[in-house]
Formats: sequence, structure tokens, C-alpha cells
Amino acid sequence: ARSDALPRDLDGLRVVVSAGGTREPLDPVRHLGNRSSGKQGYALARVAAQRGAHVTLVTAHTDALPEPAGADVVHVSTANQLGEAVGAAAATADVVVMAAAVADFRPAGTSGHKIKKSDDTPDPTINLVRNPDILAGLVERRERGQVIVGFAAETGDEQGSVLEHARAKLKRKGCDLLVVNAVGEGKAFEMDENTGWLLSADGAEQRIPLGTKSLLAATVWDAVTELLRRRPD
Ligand code: CTP
Ligand code: CA
Repeated sequence: ARSDALPRDLDGLRVVVSAGGTREPLDPVRHLGNRSSGKQGYALARVAAQRGAHVTLVTAHTDALPEPAGADVVHVSTANQLGEAVGAAAATADVVVMAAAVADFRPAGTSGHKIKKSDDTPDPTINLVRNPDILAGLVERRERGQVIVGFAAETGDEQGSVLEHARAKLKRKGCDLLVVNAVGEGKAFEMDENTGWLLSADGAEQRIPLGTKSLLAATVWDAVTELLRRRPD
């Protein structure tokens, strides 16, 4: 679609979108990473810019994707770098969307030289430490009226269904909206299509139909504008 065919309902809004998967270095040639393609975050940034927002896209590692037209793009690698860049941009933002796949843990230490294997020493063990929860930090420091959106990739398990896990996560995180992707065989990761639910802190739950990541992005921005409309300025 041409950008002039879309509503300009985000005109003047300052939004921050994080995207991609962080990488946590082990040594100069290795890292711990994840399978995020970055496509959903890029779609969110692109659609927001098309609808008139000032967009800062803070992106960790992604597939080769075109930079969204009109967005300021900040490239980062680790969870700590992503947290710093998002935190700085969020200070003046109306909306923050955390679509990045942030590593929950990083290696406790990073070797300055390539880790070598040897028959004379035992095989190494990787010790991990927690990364800061960026989304939780944003919620703690939130300015009055700022809308904060989280993402969750969930699978059902013995503890509960996808939706039950997601409702608990929304409460735990304290964000305004949580986009829930059901993950598993052939779903979400590396795919062009996404499906799930949009959960709102006020209890509203919307099923997001199977569709493109652009469609999911449009659904998220529709929900954000609705929240902003209901807020006192
Ligand atoms: N997130 C974050 N900082 C982290 C981990 C996650 O900001 N260190 C954000 C993600 O960008 C996402 C949301 O939190 O918007 C939910 O991520 P998820 O991995 O589903 O939640 P976790 O709290 O890490 O829980 P889990 O143990 O299920 O991974
Ligand atoms: Ca996690």
C-alpha cells in the first residue's frame, strides 16, 4: 500500500520500537543468540512511520531487512546495549513497543581470546547471569500517559495454556498491552505471518487473525491510538 493510502492518525506521535534478537558474546568469535528475524519489529516501525509517527527503531540482530522509510534506526547487539538505547529514546516517547527478543541471560564472563578446546583440560561450562528486564524498567520509570507495549511468545504446558501464561505475564510486566504469539511447530519465528492475541491491562482480549506482520502491526497501532484517545493529556 502507498503511505498516502493509510490514516495519518499517529501524526506527531513519538514512538520507540525495539526489534530483532540480542546477542551475548562468549569470546571474540562466538555468542549466544536467538531465532528472531526482526520482521515484526520492522513492520511495527514501518507502519508507524507511514501513519505519521516519529519513529526510533532500536534494532538488535535481524535477517537482512530494508530499513523502514522515515525511521531513525539505532543498531545494537547485546541486551544491555538495547536497554540503554531504548531507555534513552523512551525518555521523550509517547509510546514504547518492545518487540525485540531480549536474551534473559548472558555469559557471566566474556573471554578476551578465542576459547580453545584441549585434550588436557576439561570441557568448559558456560555460567549465565540474568540480564536486566528492559520492559519492567520502562514500566517503573514510565511518564504519565506513556503507552508501553510488550510482546510474548508462549507455548502451552502443564502449568497452563498460552492465554493463561500470557495473562499472568501481562500482570507481572505491568505494561498496557501485550501481544501474544502462540509459538511451536512452524509458528511465528522466521515466518511472514503471525497469529495470536492482543491483551489489554483493562481486561480486553482481542484475537488477532492469521495475517501478515504488517496487519498485526496495524492492529497494535489501532489499539495504541484507542488507549491514547481515552487518556487525559
Ligand atoms: N523483555 C525485556 N527484557 C528482558 C526480557 C524480555 O524487555 N530481559 C521484554 C520482551 O521484549 C517482551 C517482553 O519482555 O516484550 C516479554 O518477553 P518474554 O521473554 O516473553 O518474557 P520474560 O519475562 O522474559 O519471561 P520468560 O521466562 O517467559 O522468557
Ligand atoms: Ca524471556
